[in-house]
Amino acid sequence: MTKNQKPKLLNELKRILIIGNGGRENSIAWALSKNQSIEQIYVCPGNGGTKNFERCFCLSPIPNNEETIISECQRLEINLIIIGPEVPLAKGLANKMREAGLTVFGPCKEGAQLEASKDWAKTLMKENNIPTAKYWTTNTQEEALNILKKYNQPLVIKADGLAAGKGVSVCETLEESKNAIKDIFSGKFGSAGNKVILEELIEGPEVSIFALTDGKKLIVLPPAQDHKRLLAGDKGPNTGGMGAYAPAPLINEKDLQEITDLILIPTLEGLKKKQIKYIGVIYAGLMLTASGPKVIEYNCRFGDPECQALMPLMGEEFASVLFSCALGELEKAPKLTFTDLCSACIVAASKGYPENPQKGDQIKINLVSNSSLQVFHAGTAIDKFHNIITSGGRVLSVVGQGENFDKAFEIAYDSLKQINFDGMHFRKDIGYQVRNIST
Ligand code: AMP
Ligand code: GLY
Repeated sequence: MTKNQKPKLLNELKRILIIGNGGRENSIAWALSKNQSIEQIYVCPGNGGTKNFERCFCLSPIPNNEETIISECQRLEINLIIIGPEVPLAKGLANKMREAGLTVFGPCKEGAQLEASKDWAKTLMKENNIPTAKYWTTNTQEEALNILKKYNQPLVIKADGLAAGKGVSVCETLEESKNAIKDIFSGKFGSAGNKVILEELIEGPEVSIFALTDGKKLIVLPPAQDHKRLLAGDKGPNTGGMGAYAPAPLINEKDLQEITDLILIPTLEGLKKKQIKYIGVIYAGLMLTASGPKVIEYNCRFGDPECQALMPLMGEEFASVLFSCALGELEKAPKLTFTDLCSACIVAASKGYPENPQKGDQIKINLVSNSSLQVFHAGTAIDKFHNIITSGGRVLSVVGQGENFDKAFEIAYDSLKQINFDGMHFRKDIGYQVRNIST
């Protein structure tokens, strides 16, 4: 095959590039590396753990901008690009790559609005009768305060745009709602808060649902459970996620089918009606309320750390399935299989996370990933002495699999004892919902 020529056959998938530097991207690289027919997996920029997996390399183009990444993809004859995080998707990296003739798994800028604009996502839900909390959108403080006064009950206050997971205030009192409105309009989240969503407070357990799509068809992955709060007992500030497990038994097969029919298919149909060919992950963050599942938020990518829990469950067909999605030909993909195990992921964070994570501490790891235990790096780097050091808040995740959750969590927690860095902390009660522990 000559340079820049699009591969058409699944067996032509040889070189993959993953964009991102987190635990999510590290776990995707690991899952793809299990497929022996793939020759090279690049991660741009990757992290201190990228090279731990067979045939995985960091790619750090200079300057690290869209144009150089695209020309590097052409030079390296990359067959498939997977874009991990939401920011490059919302900025239109997938559009530019496709214009350059590259094959990409990740939605176009228009589709990424599912995550990048809560108002846009809410409108799509309304237009397609997708269950979600009642809401109001406004761009003035006065109107927001009037809505609150009229409603006369605490509301959830959300910045419309991307705010690194910090743009949502779940308020328990009218006063808190009032203050959250004032904060947003005084510029707390910059332009992300130019528009504000006020939302009815709903209640119930949360679950993360992921569907892979080529814009026409969907494959739904096992449901996953995230743990967003920093401290045991779901206390403390919100974080990017301190741990996860899958498959979440909260949702059985029948429920998942209902969620597919009620939420995922109408979401894809809604995107199609807007002439958006959405290729990538639709992540529906759901709340299971007394009156049925409701969408709390969409994301346009895999969740982190849910992805780390899910990747070890994927069959070898995973690479082919992502490639078929990117080619817009999911019907040609082999059936995606999932192992019959339980998967448990614990995130180890650095001192000061989430407010002020400390960087530059040396990490000691006495473990090697295998088929039932994985160490996925996130905020790590390699210093000039070849030491692995911390370089971010969520440093790494340890993931274990077993025939039940007790076993999976035992593997993960035991393995964490082999890892050490200054200020390392993690939740000891991840998976309390599914294992026998007293908290
Ligand atoms: P998000 O950043 O949109 O994921 O929201 C962060 C968290 O806020 C969610 O995981 C929920 O726990 C909570 N949340 C968001 N919207 C609502 C709502 N309408 N009612 C209750 N809790 C909510
Ligand atoms: N784990 C939540 C997220 O990725 O947004």
